Amino acid sequence: MTPKIIVTRRWPEQVETILQQHYDCEFNTADTPLSSAQLSDALTRADAVLSTVTDKFDADVLNVDNHQTKIIANFGVGFSHIDINAAKAKKITVTNTPDVLSDCTADLAMTLLLMAARRAGEGERELRAGDWSGWRPTHMMGSKVTGKKLGIIGYGRIGRAMAHKAHHGFSMDIVVHNRSAVPAAALATVNATQLPTIEAVLAESDFVSLHCPGGDENKHLISQKRLSNMKPGSFLINTARGEVVDENALINALENGPIAGAGLDVFDNEPNIDKRFSGLPNAVLLPHLGSATTETRNDMGLRVISNLNEFFAGKKPADSVT
Ligand code: DGY
Repeated sequence: MTPKIIVTRRWPEQVETILQQHYDCEFNTADTPLSSAQLSDALTRADAVLSTVTDKFDADVLNVDNHQTKIIANFGVGFSHIDINAAKAKKITVTNTPDVLSDCTADLAMTLLLMAARRAGEGERELRAGDWSGWRPTHMMGSKVTGKKLGIIGYGRIGRAMAHKAHHGFSMDIVVHNRSAVPAAALATVNATQLPTIEAVLAESDFVSLHCPGGDENKHLISQKRLSNMKPGSFLINTARGEVVDENALINALENGPIAGAGLDVFDNEPNIDKRFSGLPNAVLLPHLGSATTETRNDMGLRVISNLNEFFAGKKPADSVT
């Protein structure tokens, strides 16, 4: 029997075509997010559900009678939208798509860093509005990036890709915080120093980029207290998950200091972001574009297919997180 799969959102055409060749597919041609009831229903009708970050598989959604689903194969590396313990209780395997998006997500973090430091969003808005009065020595001065210190919170694959680009491309000094000890070789390639506390990283970094997982364990890791201890004039970059930062405290810090700006690709309660962000000129705001390149989105889809193929061949998928 060909396994039945439900794909919760539209995927790149090339990947949907391959899926169709191997599986009995139900696609979401409308590409609107599924409700909790629709997600639960999918679990009763498909052998595999192919999810994304917009599908909140909490304990209530997962706790359905007569579930048929044996694997939730997630399109994305982050999986804090899936209650892993509830999935395990139902004996559902969960997989993600690491590696293939590390470079593009780090590229986007670097984009945000440069935009925030060099006031690129502000400049573009001024120009498009017809308000540019011409070149002058004091016009829209930003902060220099080359040679500054970058603090990285979470030194996994994406954090390391970011360090590589910042150090080798922009001669930045790198300090990192990571829950476990980082192998010396992984620090040496970018001449990085691992510091014992987040506070130490925040106190000395000109830029801080977040690359840790989301979820309850890191909720408001960047708290009001930690924001208030960031280096005056520094910048916070978040391409991880919205919940990692206390957004109320961040808005206050963007209005009153000590930080000079922020570059944000992720938010609490996406896509309904806190409206106060839009009024802050020193915030660069992007709509969760970290992995959004054609190459990477295709690779993410292929990685899901490889996980599915392994699972239905009776093997443990390489990217199982359960
Ligand atoms: C990821 O891969 O985690 C992206 O943020 C999309 O979910």
